[in-house]
Amino acid sequence: MTVKGELAKIREEGLKEFRAAQSAEEVEAARIKYMGRKGLVSAQFSKLGTVEPELRAETGKALNEMKGAFSKALNEAEERVKGGKATPRERLDLTIPGKRPERGRYHPITMVQEEMIEIFQGLGFEVVEGPEVEIEFYNFEGLNIPKEHPAREPRDNFYISDDLLLRTQTSPVQIRAMEKRKPPVRLVSPGRVYRPDTVDSTHHYMFTQIEGLMVERGVSFADLKGVLELFAKGMFGEDVKTRFVPSYFPFTEPSAQMDIGCTFCAGKKCDVCGGTGWLELLGCGMVHPNVFKVVGYDYEEFTGWAFGVGVERLAMRKYGINDIRLLTENDVRFLRQFWK
Ligand code: DAH
Repeated sequence: MTVKGELAKIREEGLKEFRAAQSAEEVEAARIKYMGRKGLVSAQFSKLGTVEPELRAETGKALNEMKGAFSKALNEAEERVKGGKATPRERLDLTIPGKRPERGRYHPITMVQEEMIEIFQGLGFEVVEGPEVEIEFYNFEGLNIPKEHPAREPRDNFYISDDLLLRTQTSPVQIRAMEKRKPPVRLVSPGRVYRPDTVDSTHHYMFTQIEGLMVERGVSFADLKGVLELFAKGMFGEDVKTRFVPSYFPFTEPSAQMDIGCTFCAGKKCDVCGGTGWLELLGCGMVHPNVFKVVGYDYEEFTGWAFGVGVERLAMRKYGINDIRLLTENDVRFLRQFWK
């Protein structure tokens, strides 16, 4: 083999060994083998004298170059095997692409709820909250739902004890709030409610309502209509159609339900609106005198109106969501669509 060929072979094998070394011992062995006092590099330098004079300069240059390459490879190998024992900071590799941390976001129900509340706050309504575990008095009696009423049956409620249950509506907050206030009252009360309904695309055992209550001298059904129409426009746009249909609730008289023109077919009739062109949005009415009696308001002097609206239902109508379960599954592929 020519001297040149021999050097090339040593160079190649040496670099390979430095790169393959996995431990400090292996690096040291390679160092001794190539760069040691009796190592291959040193041996080649000693042989330089025997090289033909015309090749000597060239060979010397190649040897120096090889020595430089080995010393660089040795440094790198030492650094590499040291990594295992290095502190985290020494091992920190700033060139690795970062992992983007996911930011927390509001759930669509929270966003819609905030949007709804803002409309009422703009009209001077305060926000009041009440407990989710409620006593029967506030959930029923105070709202003119007497003991024998079928709505109080165990199978339709989550009772915790004889007298305690998960509230089935936000209406109890009306009573709690009026007990603590004198008229005028303007409030909205958001929160969760619970009913042992079988879960399907439109029912859940837990959902969200916003209760509204206004009590003043001379307040009439016209005020109720005016405010709730403004609310519907705020949520669904200026062109939304509304209508009020007679209904029944024990705590209002007269009672009504407010419908909006179907947001899925724009009134052209579809499966969602059952071919009527209308969707039920909320329950409302003039506060029943019996409710005022419970909280000690003079029902000759004051009148009031109230409403209760389901936040999930409204969100489903607003965004064309066809299954209420999507709102509790926390699938980010669904939730992401609402991120702003
Ligand atoms: N609490 C009723 C429900 O859950 C909704 C409701 C209807 C609330 C009429 C009201 C009202 O305040 O006036 O179905």
